Amino acid sequence: MTTAATIPLAGDAVPILGHALPLLRDPLAFLSSLPDHGDLVRLRLGPLSMVMVCDPVLTRHVLRDDRTFDMGGPIMDRARELADGVGTCPRERHRRQRRLCQPAFHRSRMPAYGSVMAASCAEVAASWRDGQEIDITDEMGALILRIVATTMFSSASPDLTRSIADDFKAISGPVFWRIVMPPRFRGLPTPGNRRYRRAHARLRRTVAGMVEAHRAAGTDRGDLLSSLLAAQDPDSEGERRALTDDEVTNQVINFFTGADATGPAMAWALCLVAAHPDIERRLADEVDEVLDGGPPSWEHLPRLQLAERVMTEALRLYTPTWFGSRVVTEDTDLGGFRLPAGTMIGWSPYVIHRLPQLYKDPERFDPDRWLDADVGHEAYFPFGGGARKCIGSRFALSTAVLTLAAITARWRLRPVDGGPPRPVAKVLLAPHGTRMRAVAR
Ligand code: HEM
Repeated sequence: MTTAATIPLAGDAVPILGHALPLLRDPLAFLSSLPDHGDLVRLRLGPLSMVMVCDPVLTRHVLRDDRTFDMGGPIMDRARELADGVGTCPRERHRRQRRLCQPAFHRSRMPAYGSVMAASCAEVAASWRDGQEIDITDEMGALILRIVATTMFSSASPDLTRSIADDFKAISGPVFWRIVMPPRFRGLPTPGNRRYRRAHARLRRTVAGMVEAHRAAGTDRGDLLSSLLAAQDPDSEGERRALTDDEVTNQVINFFTGADATGPAMAWALCLVAAHPDIERRLADEVDEVLDGGPPSWEHLPRLQLAERVMTEALRLYTPTWFGSRVVTEDTDLGGFRLPAGTMIGWSPYVIHRLPQLYKDPERFDPDRWLDADVGHEAYFPFGGGARKCIGSRFALSTAVLTLAAITARWRLRPVDGGPPRPVAKVLLAPHGTRMRAVAR
């Protein structure tokens, strides 16, 4: 067994900063170069070092063994400042929280959420005018925030829903810089830091107020919050059997943070469809046949099969959650190397989803590659894997497919600036330069 120090070092390191510059300047090009060095590659980010996993089998192993590869390390510590819930807590607290959150996403509750999704995306598609220019990334971001706020708090007024969505947007923008900047800068009283802290405090107050009011009313309204409040964990003792109000507030904010990935995913899919006339035509045919002139609904989902493959393929090429991290909890072996406890691990669906040995012609947008049952599934990680696999994957895919259908039923989208969108990788990998003209079909 070889020690971690002999893991190949990625190229382009400079003294002191290590790989921070190429990683900040063009993270996707830098990540794509890593598999050439080996299955495991060492990175240096200033004083930190990290081992990137560039092999699908090792990635799966890291995701499944959450005892050895836990949520932790400096990146997660900073994410936890936003909300310490199911998505950010270490393993020792995770199992209980996950058991208490899971019922909110149970199959039986999905049709009720589905009617909110269908109504919201049909409303957006109906609000556009022929020839209108729309920034698709902004529009999809706003849509998913509205859908999550409404499925979370069915009793919230439109004003309250808007205020939650606005505060969340004000927080999620600067969060990337707060994660990468040294801690002492995050405390400075700059206008940006003050705006962030104000929005964060207001969001927590609003959510905590909703939690308290819901608890006092004591009725199951069929929304996500009712489920979190009612959940009981048979494996916990006494007061720990249910989530406290503070814990519920943290889960709600974690759900918003998690769901934020859905906006870029939908925007990528719409851009890719617009750039591929053959897929656009076939998708329109499918949607016309399935919806038969009416609005999309939850019941249509099983028949919107090309729309689902479009989403699967968009998520392969441009997984919004392009990078994840873990920390090694006890000395372990991985890929022939001995990793000491405390080693930071990075994993990236962006890297794995573009390996030519796994996906033929990997840069090509080809939704039909998913007709082949042998393709991908064991090396496809848009939603992570193991015990920390995305709790909202079904919620996200249903929203995205319904939105694709609602928009395709009425509109063709054409880029205003001509060229393809630019991928920008911050906390999420989102398309930029996505002003599109809506052309009535
Ligand atoms: C296309 C959209 C989405 C993508 C690509 C996505 C991706 C992911 C990924 C990769 C993880 C695992 C992170 C890791 O292991 O490091 C995750 C976890 C999570 N996601 Fe999502 N997600 C999406 C939508 C949603 C939605 C709609 C919700 C909630 C309504 C949500 C809530 C969560 C939560 C709470 C976790 C933490 C789960 C745990 O640790 O037990 N996500 N997501």
